[in-house]
Amino acid sequence: MPGPERTGTLFTGIAQLVTPPPGPQRGGAMRELTVLEDAALLVRDGVIAWVGPAGEAPRLPNTAGLGTVDLGGVAVVPGLTDPHTHAIWAGDRLADFEARVEGVPYEEMLARGGGIRSTMRATAAAGVAELVALARPRLDALARSGATTIEVKSGYGLDFGAELRMLEAVRTLQTRVPATLVPTLLIHVPPTEGRTAYVRAVCEELIPEVAHEGLADAVDVFCEREAFTVEETRAILTAAQANGLRVKLHADQFHALGGTELACALGGLSVDHLEASGEAQIAALAASQTVATVLPGVTLHLGLPAAPARALVDAGACVAVGTDLNPGSSPLFSAQLALALAVRLNGLTPAEALTASTVNAAAALGLTDRGALVVGQRADFLALHSPDWRDLAYTLGLNPVRDVFVGGQNLKEMTL
Ligand code: NIG
Ligand code: FE
Repeated sequence: MPGPERTGTLFTGIAQLVTPPPGPQRGGAMRELTVLEDAALLVRDGVIAWVGPAGEAPRLPNTAGLGTVDLGGVAVVPGLTDPHTHAIWAGDRLADFEARVEGVPYEEMLARGGGIRSTMRATAAAGVAELVALARPRLDALARSGATTIEVKSGYGLDFGAELRMLEAVRTLQTRVPATLVPTLLIHVPPTEGRTAYVRAVCEELIPEVAHEGLADAVDVFCEREAFTVEETRAILTAAQANGLRVKLHADQFHALGGTELACALGGLSVDHLEASGEAQIAALAASQTVATVLPGVTLHLGLPAAPARALVDAGACVAVGTDLNPGSSPLFSAQLALALAVRLNGLTPAEALTASTVNAAAALGLTDRGALVVGQRADFLALHSPDWRDLAYTLGLNPVRDVFVGGQNLKEMTL
């Protein structure tokens, strides 16, 4: 019988094994990658059991069920986490897109009852099975782009029933897609009438039910002029915490209203968007444990200013990158492309962008067991087409990710 050190799957043929340290990294530490040339990786029970130079790899007996996988001389990086998606929606925003390009602002469409509200009408009319069928290919695309963990928000429910159907769709999808899905309850836009009663019902009915049913890990709010005020946001996030849920925020997308400072003060997991953040918001994030998540797909698609990721890192914040996959502000179906755009649009270095898309993105979901290729972490990793890991941040419009491994299993060989 082989001892535990002689079981598992050994991955060889790794030209470069590249990883940040485990756990959230902030400031200059985001650039501290380990690059191991000619490496090997041992996976046992879905977890990394050994990593080091190929010449020092443990020898495995040639027994059925154990073995060696030769990756053929390419770079290996940790699986990416996409910490911010709205992957469940029905209908489309193609007419919006055309109108926006012709000059109608995104916020104005929302104020007129279109934009997000039109997606809410279409989504509220769909059943769980339809939502699952619509979302599945989107999540598969994100996984092929390298995302082994994906956050999915509700938020297109016109009423609580529709919100719960969105979260039930995520629960169903958890058994149908190989990536880990992390559900978030998003309180997205208020009703046009009766918003005080709505906020009260969110706090007293919806959040307790979602917490009781275990349908979400966290609660998010869109804190913005056309959405919820800071005081409404405070009430919702406080109710979330009272019900044992973590909190996060969409803030500073168009206006810095104070949501970022609120989320930092409440110990939020992350504040996302930040396109309109200034010095006060950067300082608040840098002084807190809250992750600053930037979404370059929104900058590209809406032509908004880019979130100040460079200044955030320089101030010592913990920065993450997400796709914000959604039909209105970011139809971006690739976590790799989000990483690559964060280098171009937000001023991150390739090394910072890798850290932002791995350990820091995981931290934005409260996860510290993934994102680094060190012993004890989940064996979620990517084999690129290239022997140089920097192709991950360099390539635009062609997928540089050849194979995606979840818990040590190749996605191409997984049947769900
Ligand atoms: O993160 N800004 C608010 N919510 C989403 C967009 C949703 C939509 O336009 O459908 C976002 O950008
Ligand atoms: Fe979003």
